[in-house]
Amino acid sequence: MSTDQSKRFQGKIAVVTGAARGLGKRIAEAFINEGGSVAMLGRNVAALEAAAAELGAMAVVFPTDISDPLAVRQTFDAIHRRFGGVDFLVNNAAIGHLQTIEEADDQLLQQEVGANLLGPIYCIRAAIPLMKARGGGGVVNVTSESVNRPYPFLTVYAATKSAMETLSAGLRTELRGQGIRITVLRSGRMSESGFNRDWPEERRTRYHEIVKAEGYHASSGEPISPQITARAVMDVLALPREANIDLLDLRSSG
Ligand SMILES: NC(=O)c1ccc[n+]([C@@H]2O[C@H](COP(=O)([O-])OP(=O)(O)OC[C@H]3O[C@@H](n4cnc5c(N)ncnc54)[C@H](OP(=O)(O)O)[C@@H]3O)[C@@H](O)[C@H]2O)c1
Repeated sequence: MSTDQSKRFQGKIAVVTGAARGLGKRIAEAFINEGGSVAMLGRNVAALEAAAAELGAMAVVFPTDISDPLAVRQTFDAIHRRFGGVDFLVNNAAIGHLQTIEEADDQLLQQEVGANLLGPIYCIRAAIPLMKARGGGGVVNVTSESVNRPYPFLTVYAATKSAMETLSAGLRTELRGQGIRITVLRSGRMSESGFNRDWPEERRTRYHEIVKAEGYHASSGEPISPQITARAVMDVLALPREANIDLLDLRSSG
């Protein structure tokens, strides 16, 4: 290839939600390594700042709870003022509360649907005009292999991810001809995740018993590094605008 592979995103701006750790941080890192700038969104200011300090001057922190529509509007206004537009949005932030539907807590449900479904919708809504101002752009919506086989006690999580896939299909039609591409990254299990850190101990034990007995992990394979996933996302974003990968179904080969 004749282009400079190491600087495919020179002058480009990506908004990455949940950028302080896990996959979001690896995507921010990969984008910056290829010359771009990243607006890093998340709730925990200290964690965001620590991650941005590691990634250098092209990482800019915008503390935001994406489930709050006003906060998202204010953040995208601030991103507009800072960068003048947006080229890419990666809807990566998500929560999975381990609970049955029967016992589901109101606040946890609202947090989960807010972060996994409403939040990405708020971000997409705010990003579209900023992408149009740049002549087009790309959105990556991160979903999960659990859309096909929901994990026990993570039914709401899986449902929000399925909804994101349906949303992506509709959005692709709405935006056709406007230069904004929509990709679903349907991820398998990854390492380096902080996803399960708040799970209650007793339910976590029960979860692992069911997952083992029913062979969930055997069919998912070993977790892969989010750096590999981030590399694949970079290749999707770098495609010429007339082409798109609608669904990147990325799983362990082991
Ligand atoms: N890990 C896996 O095995 C796996 C498998 C399939 C799919 N996925 C998907 O991959 C993506 C990344 O997963 P991960 O394992 O890297 O997750 P993670 O380590 O738990 O990171 C999630 C990030 O989302 C942020 N976040 C949560 N709620 C938010 C909100 N309301 N507003 C803004 N930021 C919020 C968190 O930061 P704050 O708490 O500071 O806000 C955190 O930085 C998710 O979409 C997940 O569903 C993961």
